[in-house]
Order: sequence, then structure tokens, then C-alpha cells
Amino acid sequence: MEFSFDVDALLPERITVLDQHLRPPARRPGTTTPARVDLQQQIMTIVDELGKASAKAQHLPAPITSASRMQSNRHVMYVLKDTSARPAGKGAVIGFLKVGYKKLFVLDDREAHNEVEPLCILDFYIHESLQRHGHGRELFHYMLQKERVEPHQLAIDRPSQKLLKFLNKHYNLETTVPQVRGFKG
Ligand code: COA
Repeated sequence: MEFSFDVDALLPERITVLDQHLRPPARRPGTTTPARVDLQQQIMTIVDELGKASAKAQHLPAPITSASRMQSNRHVMYVLKDTSARPAGKGAVIGFLKVGYKKLFVLDDREAHNEVEPLCILDFYIHESLQRHGHGRELFHYMLQKERVEPHQLAIDRPSQKLLKFLNKHYNLETTVPQVRGFKG
């Protein structure tokens, strides 16, 4: 996913972690620094465009990830950029993973309600042209380390077939207990 501005300069690392402040990361020494407000606008554009692309990929009626939603929630977004060498390019974004803690009433296998507050996978998207190249796994692995959680501790609302296969393949996860209401959105 390409943008009119220089993604490579804006996001110096392969994976950028964004929280509700949507702070532009520190730039590499020697890179010209546009006004901070412009940089934040660029970050917001990336978040909005990723949110739209993810909603489209999942056939959702509206994006569940946007800059304004990020600013009003305590979610964390991991953004993966393309680091393949492309001379004179402005860089590109490959995808993202958004997580956050949510209070949930979970039905267990005896149909009892339990209040829990797990880390939830809230949105996850890899650009169509780059799916099944290991990028999703790279992002997921990075997130697990940063958040210090094990895959089986995560909650996911209505995972797509692709995500179910992904979790099964990489983390051997498959047993789920269907829940009454979701938390997406
Ligand atoms: N069909 C079936 N399984 C798929 C798939 C597809 N089109 N794309 C990915 N997978 C699963 C498979 O298990 C695959 O292994 P395989 O190729 O050996 O069958 C594995 O994921 C590949 O892992 P990886 O390359 O690390 O995943 P990825 O970079 O494709 O990222 C997703 C995984 C789910 C984020 C990505 O496919 C995606 O963006 N899908 C569309 C949006 C979506 O469904 N998001 C989840 C929201 S609940």
C-alpha cells in the first residue's frame, strides 16, 4: 500500500507501534523533518487507509480501525512496512495488527458466565498482494513478545476463516466456544 508521502522516512523501523497519541516515530538522523503536525497527519492517513482496506477485505459494513477510533481508545496498533529494496521509492505499508484489552463475559463449556479482561485481536490485515508470505506471522510474533502474552490467552471476535487457519497453522489453536455477542466495533 503506497502513499503520496515518504513512508520510509515516516516509519524508520520495519514495525511501528502506535497508541492513542498516534505519535510519529523519531526520524533517522540526516532526514529532513517536516512540521510535526504534517507528520501526524500522515500517520492518521495511513491508519485510516489501512482500516478501510481491512474492512473491505473482511466485508465489514464500515471500518473498525481509523485514526479517530485510535485516539479515543486504548488500543495498540502494530504497522508493518515493506523493507524490500526499491530504489527511489517512497516505501509502502504491508499491513497491521490491532489489539486492546476488553472486559468480556465469557461463556465457558458449562455455559457459565465469567468476567475476564483478555487482550483481544481487534483487527488484522495484510495487503492482498502479500498474503501467505509470512508477514502476518511476523507481526503476530512481534505483538506476542511486546504484549508478553501467549497465543492461547488471546480473545478474538468472529475470526475470519483465514485467521482461523492462520492460528491453527502457526499456533495449533483450534478449539473455540461460540459466544452470544461479539465485541467488534
Ligand atoms: N486462505 C486460507 N488460509 C489463509 C489465507 C487464505 N487466503 N491467507 C492466509 N491464510 C492462513 C493459512 O493458514 C496460511 O498458511 P498456508 O499458506 O500454508 O495455507 C497462513 O495463514 C499464512 O500465514 P502468513 O503468511 O503469516 O499470514 P498472512 O500474512 O496471509 O496474514 C491474515 C494472515 C489473516 C492477516 C491475512 O490473510 C489477511 O489479511 N486476511 C484478510 C483479512 C482478515 O481476514 N483478517 C482477520 C480478521 S478476523
